[in-house]
Amino acid sequence: MMIFLDSADIKEIEELATTGLIDGVTTNPSLAAASGMSFSELITQITKLVTGPVSAEVTALDAPTMIAQGRKLAKIASNVTVKVPLTFEGLKACKVLASEDILVNVTLCFSLNQAILAAKAGATFISPFVGRLDDCGADGMNLIEDIVNTYEKYEIDTLVLAASIRHSQHVYEAARLGADVVTIPGKVFRQLYNHPLTDSGLAAFMKDWQKSGLKI
Ligand code: E4P
Repeated sequence: MMIFLDSADIKEIEELATTGLIDGVTTNPSLAAASGMSFSELITQITKLVTGPVSAEVTALDAPTMIAQGRKLAKIASNVTVKVPLTFEGLKACKVLASEDILVNVTLCFSLNQAILAAKAGATFISPFVGRLDDCGADGMNLIEDIVNTYEKYEIDTLVLAASIRHSQHVYEAARLGADVVTIPGKVFRQLYNHPLTDSGLAAFMKDWQKSGLKI
């Protein structure tokens, strides 16, 4: 399973990318707005920090302008993935951009029917929003399961990118269900490796080692 960072914080991306475990980055207009940088500068910098896909979202609501914005964003770097919303206009834009071999991430997906249309439009990634479904009393992971199973049944190539991930249990479930990618905030990445038994076990090993006087 690929791990993307859901972040527009250059420092955070730079630090976590040093692990070599970050396969890509997703941004959205809210994250970009909070970065305090110009959008093109932000995306340019992120594409230099990770070699994998970097999602940059269009902000137009009509297909022709989405397509123009998408083409412009795709020119920033070869690993830019154009993010379009799962609307009538977004699907039309996806179809055109995908036909030009531009990577497309169709975002704000909340149903299997939407995911089927995105796949038909040639999306590289479909982004079902797990946490936001949970927020309104639904089970976001049911949607991941439905999309993964249906895409498998029809041998669809579109990758399932579990988004709106709020905690490590979401990552565990998404992995178990076969999502291709999870996009996670830096805070959740840290939750994946932290464990109190690792910390206490390491402290005990270090104490014994220091007492022994042994060296490597
Ligand atoms: C995904 O691409 C989105 O940027 C993101 O996962 C949204 O997460 P949120 O619902 O926590 O804002």
